[in-house]
Amino acid sequence: MEMLYRLTEEEYGEILAFKRDLHMHPELSGEEYETTGKLRAFFEARPDYEILPLPVETGLVVRIRGGQEGPEIMLRADIDALPQEEDYESEWKSRVPGVMHACGHDFHTASLLGAAMLLSRAKAQGRLRGCVDLVFQPAEEGTLGARKLIGAGLFDLIRPRAVFGMHNWPSVETGKAVCHQGPLMSAKCNFEIVIHGAGGHGSMPHLNIDPIVCSAALIQSLQTVISRNTNPLDSAILSINMIQGGSPVNLVVERVMMRGTVRSLSEKALDRAIERMKTIVEKTAEAYECRQEIIWNKRIPMVFNTPEMTAFARKAACAAGCTVTDVPPSLASEDFALYRQYAPSFFYWVGSRAPGDAVEELHRPRFHTDDPALYHSSALYAASVLEFEEKP
Ligand code: NI
Repeated sequence: MEMLYRLTEEEYGEILAFKRDLHMHPELSGEEYETTGKLRAFFEARPDYEILPLPVETGLVVRIRGGQEGPEIMLRADIDALPQEEDYESEWKSRVPGVMHACGHDFHTASLLGAAMLLSRAKAQGRLRGCVDLVFQPAEEGTLGARKLIGAGLFDLIRPRAVFGMHNWPSVETGKAVCHQGPLMSAKCNFEIVIHGAGGHGSMPHLNIDPIVCSAALIQSLQTVISRNTNPLDSAILSINMIQGGSPVNLVVERVMMRGTVRSLSEKALDRAIERMKTIVEKTAEAYECRQEIIWNKRIPMVFNTPEMTAFARKAACAAGCTVTDVPPSLASEDFALYRQYAPSFFYWVGSRAPGDAVEELHRPRFHTDDPALYHSSALYAASVLEFEEKP
């Protein structure tokens, strides 16, 4: 690894301490007040960085300017944690009951701080051109945060020529960077379905309309959207994750509510699935004499890496001292996808598992990241800036 991209032991120690502090004090989506305060303090102590006036309560955008003309580049890290109990023993285990950095956003945040240190150093050496915007995004879990920043005027404040983001990837060993071309993470639409019946005494079914029976039929029928209406070569999922309704006494209830998600690595397949869902819900409700409504959450597009950006990312990853690798895409979603409307973007997965360690997947209670991977992730962010060449 070129010295330009190698954190000193002291720098590494500082971001590691920052990461462990975040890990001990995780905050849920939209509630990242202390995390934001810590980031603010970090950058207020660094004269190279200017905090940009984005009117949001959590999250932070900071800018560093190089000494010469050059492109403006945005680097994004997410900062929020998940509502689950940690089951991995360490001195820096979560101190907040029921909340945990189970997706490694503490790792991403610390990585971007490491990149900030590397960029400061590059600036001092006269090697930083243009300017760099570091975006610490809140509320990635639930995919609301990117929209929040965009809605608050992020892209009035910054005009990046390219946007880079990353996620730690526990199945990949430390030192490796996944630079995957094409669809990487799925397009997604979460939804809520409500089936309305007509309640009454359980002894008189002929006078009532039972939404539970309708819901049972509906859940079964919805399975055919993937098995019968989706090209088997397109990856897609439709799941009902929650169902609520019923009464402990002998009554037929008025209403059943279900929540779920539909997602695909093909935007066209997702369009088709949504169209089929609407018809099945409408017609099944009609068949059982129920009324229905579907509330659609805002759709998240897929994370997609173009051939041009992938070619560059591979070059940057090599410069950063990472071993470039590839793995299949995932049907997880990422609201990083929303930034692609504003500038060409690339999303890395960075290896975060110590060699020989068992794989602990994202969102699991024993999830953890391998600390030395911070060297590579910080370098990867910094190289995405310093290796970038403006097209003529
Ligand atoms: Ni995540």
